[in-house]
Amino acid sequence: MQKRDVDVLRLPTPPQWIDVAMADFSAVLIDHCHCERKAAASAMALVTWYPSHEVLVRRLAKLAQEELRHFREVHRFIVQRGLTLTRDSGDPYVQQLLKHVRTPEAQRRTDRLLVSSLIEARSSERLQLIADALGGDELGAFYKALATAERGHYTLFVELAALYDEQAVVDARLAELATAEAEIVQRLPVEPRIH
Ligand SMILES: [Fe+2]
Ligand SMILES: [Fe+2]
Repeated sequence: MQKRDVDVLRLPTPPQWIDVAMADFSAVLIDHCHCERKAAASAMALVTWYPSHEVLVRRLAKLAQEELRHFREVHRFIVQRGLTLTRDSGDPYVQQLLKHVRTPEAQRRTDRLLVSSLIEARSSERLQLIADALGGDELGAFYKALATAERGHYTLFVELAALYDEQAVVDARLAELATAEAEIVQRLPVEPRIH
C-alpha cells in the first residue's frame, strides 16, 4: 500500500497555523525537538510490546535510530540559535489520538501502529509547510528532507499494521482513525508547535 500523507489526512492544517508557527519559530523548534525524541521512544516502546515480531523489531529499531538522528539535528539548530531545550510541555494532540487505541490485544497492535502512522502523516504535512515558508536556506532544506522522511514513516507504519492484520481491517480502521484525527485537529487551538 502506497498512500501519501495528503491522501490520508481528512483535514488540511488550518491556514493560519503556518503564520502562528513562523511568528514564534523558537517555540516550534523546541516542540519539534521533543517530537523527534518521542518518535524514537514510541518506536522502541512498540519493540518492547511486540518483541517476537521480527520485521516490526527490525524496522522500528532502525526508525528509532533515524528519529534520534532527527532529534540531534534539531537540537543542533536550537543550540546554534542560542536557544535552550526546555522541558516538554506535553502533546494534547497525541494524547487525544491515543485515546482511540482499543484495549483488546488483537485490535490494540493495529491501532497503535495506525495512530503512529497518522502522527507521521500530520508531522510530514506541517514540516513541509515550514519548509515552504523557510525557502531554500539550510534550515529550509533540512525541513524539506524531514517532511519526506516522515512521509516514508507514515507508509512504514501502515505496512507494518497490514503485516500483522488483514489489509481490509487495516484500511477500514485507518479511515476511522483519520476521521478522529481530523476532529482532534479541528478542536485544538492553533499554536506554535508541530501538532
Ligand atoms: Fe523524525
Ligand atoms: Fe517519523
